[in-house]
Amino acid sequence: AVERTLSIIKPDAVAKNVIGKIYSRFEMNGLKIVAARMTHLSRIEAEGFYAVHKERPFFKDLVDFMISGPVMIQVLEGEGAIAKNRDLMGATDPKKAAPGTIRADFAESIDANAVHGSDAPETAAVEIAYYFPALNIYSR
Ligand code: CMP
Repeated sequence: AVERTLSIIKPDAVAKNVIGKIYSRFEMNGLKIVAARMTHLSRIEAEGFYAVHKERPFFKDLVDFMISGPVMIQVLEGEGAIAKNRDLMGATDPKKAAPGTIRADFAESIDANAVHGSDAPETAAVEIAYYFPALNIYSR
């Protein structure tokens, strides 16, 4: 089915100047960018986005990292977009990410891991709504 997923290019990858290289991977693999926005998240915004991880030991470091610089946030649309984006990203820990994936090629550590992608249809819907009101999504 055609799906939408939320993608974030994290501060490490924005600082490395590889937004275009990552966008090319999306486009070459049938994922269309239907909304996009560069922003420097506030602590409140980052904590709200990652609220499901609130009790995890890495929560504070994760939020600190996500507000350390600007991020590029996009909605990707395409056949099986959620799983396809996760395949393109590779494992959360770049040391475990398969060769040729975004995290293997651009990420440094489990915190500075270049990209975020929604993990399921339910989380994709919540995450897209968090950053993009429907009127700012330009499908087909
Ligand atoms: P992301 O897909 O953005 O979702 C939560 C983030 O927490 C994850 O990528 C990692 O960057 C970060 N993180 C740090 N430590 C861990 C961990 N042990 N397990 C999962 N995610 C972690």
